[in-house]
Amino acid sequence: MRIFDQLESQVRSYVRHFPTVFNKAKGSYIYDEQDKEYIDFFAGAGTLNYGHNNPRVSDALVEYIKNDGIIHGLDKATSAKKRFLETFYSTILEPRYMEYKMQFSGPTGTNAVETALKLARMVKGRSNVISFTNAFHGLTMGSMAVTGNAFYRDEAFINRSNVTFMPYDGYFGDEVDTSVYLRKFLEDKSSGVDLPAAIILETVQAEGGVNVASDPWLKEIEQICRDFDILLIVDDIQVGNGRTGTFFSFESSGINPDIITLSKSIGGGLPLSLVLIKPELDQWRPGEHTGTFRGNNLAFIASTELLAYWENENLTEAVKYKEKILREGLEEIAQKYPTIEAQIRGNGLIYGFNIPFQGFCSDVSSAAFERGLIIELAGAKDDVLKFLPPLVIEEELLKQGIAIIDDAIGVVLDQRTGMIKGEVACL
Ligand SMILES: Cc1ncc(COP(=O)(O)O)c(C=O)c1O
Repeated sequence: MRIFDQLESQVRSYVRHFPTVFNKAKGSYIYDEQDKEYIDFFAGAGTLNYGHNNPRVSDALVEYIKNDGIIHGLDKATSAKKRFLETFYSTILEPRYMEYKMQFSGPTGTNAVETALKLARMVKGRSNVISFTNAFHGLTMGSMAVTGNAFYRDEAFINRSNVTFMPYDGYFGDEVDTSVYLRKFLEDKSSGVDLPAAIILETVQAEGGVNVASDPWLKEIEQICRDFDILLIVDDIQVGNGRTGTFFSFESSGINPDIITLSKSIGGGLPLSLVLIKPELDQWRPGEHTGTFRGNNLAFIASTELLAYWENENLTEAVKYKEKILREGLEEIAQKYPTIEAQIRGNGLIYGFNIPFQGFCSDVSSAAFERGLIIELAGAKDDVLKFLPPLVIEEELLKQGIAIIDDAIGVVLDQRTGMIKGEVACL
């Protein structure tokens, strides 16, 4: 590991939590140079919904490269892009009666968010945007401005104006409907909140601690957008692509966003970002928003193969089935260790297990890593274990991963001084 300390910037993060050199991966397993296998409950922060090196993707990529397929194309027309556009339309948009134009931004999620914000401001001719507490939308300047967490915002020393934060669903507990608060601020010409071009939200705040917005709240936010002529942007970068069971995370709510951002699993592990725009909002002049790496042709090949998962309901049903296993497994753990005061929340195959004691989740993640499981933390205080296995994980492996967490929590409880399981609060 010395070479990474010596030559790579201090900014590196995940390597500190999982200190080994990885060199192979397949399905829901990732292996290090010592051939130790780890079950992957992190899945590239939502990039590997279809598993590592999904055979459909690997075979198609090898074939494409062997045949000298176009790798780099700027935004020129290519056969790979053509197939992607056709397949995304026929598999995802058309069956859902969704009419959107597709814009390929730079390769990572934050590029899609920047694009969405810029377009919304341009179309509405307004600068303000409303975002929510605990939101995470990326770390370039515009996306960071709509991201809540001070850890990311504070050291940037930029002008973070043109954004107003409002409380997300559940921010004050279940009793308070925060959409009422938002509506009041917009109605009141003396509230000090400028009419925004857009409201941007995640239906499940993944990085923010796995906070799940209810369908009625989402519906009301949409209604507020319609009442005040505000665009609704849904950032589906982490919880789209089937994470909650349906392809888009908002499908059960019935909302109809004006702009949708997609990235992570849409490229099947390769960099790809996509902005879906209502046709009437596609008001760009040609070349007005460009970038050298828009639309990665290898990612188009991978993505087109993976869209086959959406030709029927099998994946959606599998996610719902595995969600039950995950939720029940976590509930059992919470009951087994009452002193950790765990709270469980989630939807589909994203679940948060909140343990409100400083450093506890981090210790559990380390203990799990030693036992062959990779799991990350979320929330402003890193007090949530974020369960994010590949959607295609085998049932047995899912159960094994949950058992490792159970074991790891027991070990951490035992290690914490002054704590005896079930008897003393673990502060
Ligand atoms: C909801 C959401 N939006 C945007 C981003 C930024 O994506 P990227 O890290 O690829 O720039 C992330 C990353 O975790 C995310 O979860």
